Amino acid sequence: MSKVLVCFFSAGGEDLGAGEKNEVGNTAMMADAIMAKLKEDGHDATSFQIKPLVPYPDSYDEKLVKATEERAMQERPGIAEDVPNFDDYDTVFIGYPIWCSDMPMIMYTFLESHVFTGKIVVPFCTHGGSGEVDTFRVVAEKAVGSAPGQGLAMQGELARQPGGRKQVAYWVDQLAI
Ligand SMILES: Cc1cc2nc3c(=O)[nH]c(=O)nc-3n(C[C@H](O)[C@H](O)[C@H](O)COP(=O)(O)O)c2cc1C
Repeated sequence: MSKVLVCFFSAGGEDLGAGEKNEVGNTAMMADAIMAKLKEDGHDATSFQIKPLVPYPDSYDEKLVKATEERAMQERPGIAEDVPNFDDYDTVFIGYPIWCSDMPMIMYTFLESHVFTGKIVVPFCTHGGSGEVDTFRVVAEKAVGSAPGQGLAMQGELARQPGGRKQVAYWVDQLAI
């Protein structure tokens, strides 16, 4: 059975307009559901959270200002720690929240600094209503030489609920991994 990596970026903190703070972000919740299903199915799966060198503010408004700036400048924010033994994995899930109708720029840093040749790459994301906004295609494009897996986009709040975990389990079942 293949070796699977579930890597993701998740900012958490204050969510869209709600004023509430998520200690564990929506994308991290989705990654947790993926991991639970993979383990249940007997996969050799490892989870890795991509963390920025400079943490993002908790406040939604401040995060939005920072994200907008990073995107406008096409920045490649630094990553605090690299995935150990990245080359060992056959299948890589890549998760992120949608920021400004795109991936957070740190995902570009991640995708551009790893070699994906021969791996199956499965994207997933959480969002506030926009869906994946064509980012799955961008992931496939950036992960040069990989075989794309069917992605899943989930509304952020749903990722925190049992119904969301069920959807994730169903989706993982459909993947040829
Ligand atoms: C800076 C920023 C920009 C966002 N831009 C969008 C967007 O363009 N479309 C959308 O549907 N949701 C957007 N959202 C909402 C997030 O995608 C959503 O809340 C997500 O589930 C957060 O994931 P996390 O808790 O893992 O960080 C944005 C959130 C933030 C903080």
